[in-house]
Amino acid sequence: MNLHLNEKVVIVLAASKGLGRAVAEKFAEEGAQVVLASRRSDELKTVADDIAKRTGNPNLYTKPCDITKGEDIKQLVAYTVDTLGKVDVLVNNSGGPPAGGIEQFTDEDWQRAYELNLLSYVRAIREVVPHMRAQGGGHIANIASSSIKQTLDSLLLSNTFRAGVAGLSKSLSQELAKDKILINTIGPGRIATDRLIELDDIKAERLQQSREEVRMKEEQSIPLGRYGTPEEFANQIVFLCSGANTYVTGQSLIVDGGLVKAL
Ligand SMILES: NC(=O)c1ccc[n+]([C@@H]2O[C@H](COP(=O)([O-])OP(=O)(O)OC[C@H]3O[C@@H](n4cnc5c(N)ncnc54)[C@H](OP(=O)(O)O)[C@@H]3O)[C@@H](O)[C@H]2O)c1
Repeated sequence: MNLHLNEKVVIVLAASKGLGRAVAEKFAEEGAQVVLASRRSDELKTVADDIAKRTGNPNLYTKPCDITKGEDIKQLVAYTVDTLGKVDVLVNNSGGPPAGGIEQFTDEDWQRAYELNLLSYVRAIREVVPHMRAQGGGHIANIASSSIKQTLDSLLLSNTFRAGVAGLSKSLSQELAKDKILINTIGPGRIATDRLIELDDIKAERLQQSREEVRMKEEQSIPLGRYGTPEEFANQIVFLCSGANTYVTGQSLIVDGGLVKAL
C-alpha cells in the first residue's frame, strides 16, 4: 500500500518521548518532513537526531512549544509554514493529567487539565485549518485515551477531557469534511511508555504491591496478554493520517489489545 507520505509536512505535539516520539519516527520512516514540538528544547533535538539516524530521513525539525500556551502554538504553526510551506498532517498529543478523584482537585487543577488536554488541541486545530483548507485538504489525529469508551479508575481529569476531545473530533469531522480535512481520535489502552509506568507505580503504592506484580495483573486483563508498544500505536495514526485514508473521518479508534469491552 502506498501511504503517499513522502515529503508531506507533519506536526507532532508532545513529541519528545513515548507515543509522540514513536509517531514522529513512523512518519519519518515513511519519508515525511516532521516537526517535533514539546517543552524541552535539548531533549527534542536529541530525539530528532536519533530519529534521523535510525530512519535515514534528514527532514526532522524541532520547535520548543508549551502546548498550554496559545502563543507557542501559533508560533509553532507559523514556523512550520514559513520553513516548509504547508501543513499536511497535525497530530495532537499532550502529557497526561494527574490521577485522582473529585475531592483531590482544585479549580486550578481542572483549569490546568483543560488547557493541557483539550484547549491545546482546539488551538492547534484552529491554527492549521486555514492552511489545510487553502491547500485542498489535510489529516488531523487527536490522541486521547481508551477512556473515551470506558472510563478509567482514579483518572477523573483524564476521563473528563478525553471525552471532550472525542466530541470535538466528531463535531469537526462534520464541519471540515467539505474542505477534505479528515479528523479522527485515537485512544491508547495500555501502551508501554513512561506514563504507563507512572500510573502502574501509583497503583502499586495504593495496593502495596510491586510494579512487576501490577504489570503482570494488568497484562492478564488484556485479551492479547501484554502491553502494546509505542510503534504498534503509531502505525494506526500513520495510516489514518496518510494519503491511503480518504474515507475514514470522525471515528474513535481504540488501540488496546482488546481490553475495552464497549461496542
Ligand atoms: N501510554 C498509554 O498507554 C496511554 C494510555 C491512555 C492515555 N495516554 C495519554 O496519551 C498521551 C501521551 O502518552 P505517553 O504515554 O506518550 O506520555 P509520556 O511518555 O508521559 O509523554 C508525554 C509527552 O508530553 C510532553 N508534554 C507534557 N506536557 C507538555 C506541555 N505542556 N507542552 C508540550 N509538551 C508537553 C512531554 O514532553 P516535555 O516534557 O519535553 O514537554 C512528553 O513528550 C498522554 O496524554 C497520556 O495520558 C497514554
